[in-house]
Amino acid sequence: MSSPVTSVAFLPSRIHGTGGFATVNFIKGGRVIEYVGERIDKAESLNRCEAGNQCLFHLDEHWDLDGNVSWNPARFLNHSCSPNCDAELIEGRIWIVARRDIAAGEELTFNYSYDLTDFREHPCRCGSSTCAGFIVAEDLFEHVRGR
Ligand SMILES: C[S@@+](CC[C@H](N)C(=O)[O-])C[C@H]1O[C@@H](n2cnc3c(N)ncnc32)[C@H](O)[C@@H]1O
Ligand SMILES: [Zn+2]
Repeated sequence: MSSPVTSVAFLPSRIHGTGGFATVNFIKGGRVIEYVGERIDKAESLNRCEAGNQCLFHLDEHWDLDGNVSWNPARFLNHSCSPNCDAELIEGRIWIVARRDIAAGEELTFNYSYDLTDFREHPCRCGSSTCAGFIVAEDLFEHVRGR
């Protein structure tokens, strides 16, 4: 049985609801927490996406991961336009990886990388000085800024 991750605490966040916070220092490139979930095929993933599920990750050409499950504490990590982590696909698994050195106590965030679909329904409150105003992928910031 896998042991619970003790290097991340789940606490009230200034960004939204509950967030994940580092309880230890992480070095740039270090694995912070695995983003686990249910492995589903692309058709089921499309169904769940159309039903509003926002926790879907690409695994490979056949399979996606639905992280909207109770056994995935990483689902509480909030989005930021200036995140300190990235979600990375490593050998068929999704890991939240430190994008820079992170000090204990910092809220752990990554960019949810949403596309422009219904972007106005996802205003961003990350509070960073570079906030794009909406939860979208970094390469789309200039398309939504000031909208
Ligand atoms: C997977 S949940 C993250 C955990 C969430 N904080 C909670 O308590 O359930 C994703 C939702 O959190 C909220 N959220 C995450 N990051 C946000 C941000 N930067 N600005 C505004 N809302 C955010 C949005 O409502 C989003 O749909
Ligand atoms: Zn933002």
